[in-house]
Amino acid sequence: MQKSTTRRNFLKKASAVSAGMTLASVGMSAESYARIKGANDRLNFAVVGVRSRGKAHLEALADCKNVNLSHICEVDQRYVEDFSKNTAKAFGQKPRLVKDFRKLMEIKDIDAITVATPEHWHAPMAIMGLQAGKHVYLEKPCSHNPREGELLIRAQKKYKPLIQMGNQQRSSAHTIYIIEKIKAGLIGKVYYAKAFYYNNRGPIGVGKEVPVPSYLDWELWQGPAPRRPYKDNLHPYNWHWFWHYGTGESLNNGTHEVDVCRWALGVDYPKKVSTSGGRYHFKDDWEFYDTMVTGFDYGDKTLVWEGISCQGKRDLGRGSYIYGTEGSVFIDRKGYTHLSTDNKVIEEFGGDGGGQNDTANLVGGGEMTTMHFRNFIEAVRSNDKKKLHSPIDDASISVTTLHLTNIAWKMGRSLETNPKTGRILNDKEAMAMWGREYEKGWEPKV
Ligand SMILES: NC(=O)c1ccc[n+]([C@@H]2O[C@H](COP(=O)([O-])OP(=O)(O)OC[C@H]3O[C@@H](n4cnc5c(N)ncnc54)[C@H](O)[C@@H]3O)[C@@H](O)[C@H]2O)c1
Repeated sequence: MQKSTTRRNFLKKASAVSAGMTLASVGMSAESYARIKGANDRLNFAVVGVRSRGKAHLEALADCKNVNLSHICEVDQRYVEDFSKNTAKAFGQKPRLVKDFRKLMEIKDIDAITVATPEHWHAPMAIMGLQAGKHVYLEKPCSHNPREGELLIRAQKKYKPLIQMGNQQRSSAHTIYIIEKIKAGLIGKVYYAKAFYYNNRGPIGVGKEVPVPSYLDWELWQGPAPRRPYKDNLHPYNWHWFWHYGTGESLNNGTHEVDVCRWALGVDYPKKVSTSGGRYHFKDDWEFYDTMVTGFDYGDKTLVWEGISCQGKRDLGRGSYIYGTEGSVFIDRKGYTHLSTDNKVIEEFGGDGGGQNDTANLVGGGEMTTMHFRNFIEAVRSNDKKKLHSPIDDASISVTTLHLTNIAWKMGRSLETNPKTGRILNDKEAMAMWGREYEKGWEPKV
């Protein structure tokens, strides 16, 4: 391969690559895309959780052909009006609001739900969705704990509708393209990958127990999580940093880049997980680490995850390095760079990525998400799980891999794991964190 040295050469190459690969690389031939456009069966969606990421779901749906957004499910009244207006702009009518997810599941003409709630709700909602015959676009991470990943896989096999996890880089054309090349030997035998994510998050303070605000249904917000008093620094968003509801930065953002690394390395579960980190930057209610480095040992390959939550952003906020015997590739949401082992640029591809590399943008959205939704819709239309870019069987491996990081950190020791199942070996105390307790009557059952 030739080195692309000038910007003009690079741009020419980049646009040729992107033009050639967009539809084909994301698994859509022009023919199959036309089929979607021409399909008469309009898919009816409900978006669940509309404050932040839910907006990106609306944008993506608005960019898909022959779909409708008929319902929303939200437990905080403050976010309903705006979302409804925007839905009306995109779909011609306001969606109907259903506050209680269980009631939403009784509505027969909803074909698919998209879930953008806090994480203690993800797997229970997805399982109820499947049981009600709905297809599920489920935000990452798909589970709050490893056992829920196992339940999701079992539920999907049993009830049949499809689940796509919202790790949208799986539908990024340039990522699919370069990973296919890596798998075909572009950088020789791959043996090391590093995923990183940096953000500059402030402190969350020390929460006070206060009366539940009138706009919020705290009972439904908690759902499957055992009941706790309402505090003023949990909702919205900061639940991410509490074990009871969230999963920390490793699952919040590591899921994206670790998944890319795992995909490129071609590995499933590790055999050993070693981690180090802490809540170093601020002293507040935040229960996870703000700085974390984890090594996943696969025997003949290593994956490293580095997450820094509270430190000034560098020019690169997130990305994945992949190393092989004949070179390396850096991949992020904007593009990729292929280097020789002596650091010479062999090929580059890049665009602006629609702001997707900007870790200050907490909502996400943009083309990758649209392509991920289109892929989901195409798979649903043809009822073909094999078409999904992120089916639950595979997505949950990335998610459980990162749950193991959290467990290792909490235990303060390395974990040996079964490379076939991810289950922790010879450590009953750590294995006790495989699942969680549920509020009575809310246990997910498959
Ligand atoms: N794929 C991505 O790039 C991406 C980007 C951002 C967030 N996310 C994921 O999306 C999810 C939501 O994140 P967020 O930042 O929007 O959180 P958020 O706290 O801003 O919003 C969550 C919304 O869910 C609502 N909610 C809570 N319980 C509910 C229930 N029982 N029924 C209906 N609605 C309920 C809340 O009221 C809130 O409006 C998280 O899992 C997050 O990891 C993914």
